[in-house]
Amino acid sequence: MILPAVFLQSTNFIDALYIVAFGLFIYGLSGLTGPRTAVRGNKIAASGMAIAFVATLLQRHVLHGSSTPWLIALGIVLGTAIGIPAARNVHMTAMPQMVALFNGVGGGAVALIAWVEYRHHFGGQFALKAEIPSLFAAIVGSISFWGSNIAFGKLQGILPGRPIKLPGQAAVNAVLFVICLASAIVLAAGTHSQGLFILGILLAAAVLGNMVVLPIGGADMPVVISLLNAFTGLSAAATGIALNNTALIVAGMIVGASGSILTNLMAKAMNRSVPAIVAGGFGGTLDAPESAGGEGGTVRSTSAQDVAIQLSYARLVVIAPGYGMAVAQAQHAVRELEKALEAKGVEVKFAIHPVAGRMPGHMNVLLAEADVPYDLLREMDEINPEFPRTDVTLVIGANDVTNPAAKNQPGSPIYGMPILEVDQSQAVIVLKRSMASGFAGIDNPLFYDPKTSMLFGDAKASVSEVTSEVQAL
Ligand code: TAP
Repeated sequence: MILPAVFLQSTNFIDALYIVAFGLFIYGLSGLTGPRTAVRGNKIAASGMAIAFVATLLQRHVLHGSSTPWLIALGIVLGTAIGIPAARNVHMTAMPQMVALFNGVGGGAVALIAWVEYRHHFGGQFALKAEIPSLFAAIVGSISFWGSNIAFGKLQGILPGRPIKLPGQAAVNAVLFVICLASAIVLAAGTHSQGLFILGILLAAAVLGNMVVLPIGGADMPVVISLLNAFTGLSAAATGIALNNTALIVAGMIVGASGSILTNLMAKAMNRSVPAIVAGGFGGTLDAPESAGGEGGTVRSTSAQDVAIQLSYARLVVIAPGYGMAVAQAQHAVRELEKALEAKGVEVKFAIHPVAGRMPGHMNVLLAEADVPYDLLREMDEINPEFPRTDVTLVIGANDVTNPAAKNQPGSPIYGMPILEVDQSQAVIVLKRSMASGFAGIDNPLFYDPKTSMLFGDAKASVSEVTSEVQAL
């Protein structure tokens, strides 16, 4: 009985567990590169995390000889009781705010650990190689926690989504940052009361986190969430260095690196620059929606029956889904329409814009959920050259990602954003409820194009109606 216990607590065994866990993290992450392998990849990475968790509990026992099991058990029970129902019940459209909330919790935990570490070393010697990462974790973790809470509030509609700007905000932010940095230097020099300065750092970073995210508009929020996610990862890695915990270093760096890459990719796809987003320079796209019909052109409304005829006699139909498909939960109805058209010998493809919807891969996830064959999906660069030979493009609840103003109106807020060039196809049918603008709050000249017809109504109801008509033909 003694032998297994000794074996379980040996550093070699714990290191071996960590190596297995890291292998599973990386293998799981590679599964996230495609929708077919994503669920499995997620499960593999989660089992890696479970192993790292067990290894850390064993290490804690080895290092300290004692533990507080009831506190750990309480944490597990609370985390499980909140996390599982929240993840199960969240709507796909609310996923960005849930990520923000959970990410914020990570940043907050890291900041609290830094505080606890200072309390441990109060009045004593704190080795610089542990103190500097702790200070970094305190600042960045606190910014991430408070910034993520504001991002959650904005996306959830608790706070206004528009940019909230205060006078002299940039100067206030600069002062707060200097306070954090100066306090960190004073602490590292070890000459002043630690308790006061660490609290000062946490407080200044908290205000900074709020101040940095408040002026950012709702449209840029997912980019900000991804950036804060990277911050949390980096601060967790710093905590890992301070605590000499390899699992935290590796997991934190994976989150930090992937969050940074994702932030850049999203900003690029939206034609934004990350520094400009953080400076609050671009977030105003929700500010002033131009009135519907601002183009002054004529809008042609059509019926489900006419759409069905147009689609059934087409050779190639491209479906361009957007946020409205997610809102209407129309993906299963869209799958039925695709099958009905294929049964009539029509070739169907799906055009996927990288920022269609409200989160990266939003359309891929929805279509995969409805069992749309993955080989029918085409990325933007792949499908754009195909539009001129497309007989009908069916735009389902998409708006900004099809807006030609991004190509030919230099003054437009989305000018320069790559779009699905649906206006190049022979005919366009747009399914949406009204002439209302999309996330960018601007009018879409596509709706006034002579080859565009609008089928007004909820996307799910409209698609189902069109499918019935196609089947009846
Ligand atoms: P949007 O431009 O937001 O347009 C969505 C359209 O869906 C709206 O015009 C709305 O018009 C329609 N709609 C809403 N509910 C509907 C329903 N039940 N049935 C039918 N239509 C419905 O969407 P998009 O084209 O997908 O573009 C995404 C936008 O979000 C871009 O501006 C992008 O930059 C931004 N964004 C995306 C991401 C990521 S990572 N995906 C992150 C941040 C920001 P009606 O109200 O008239 O129906």
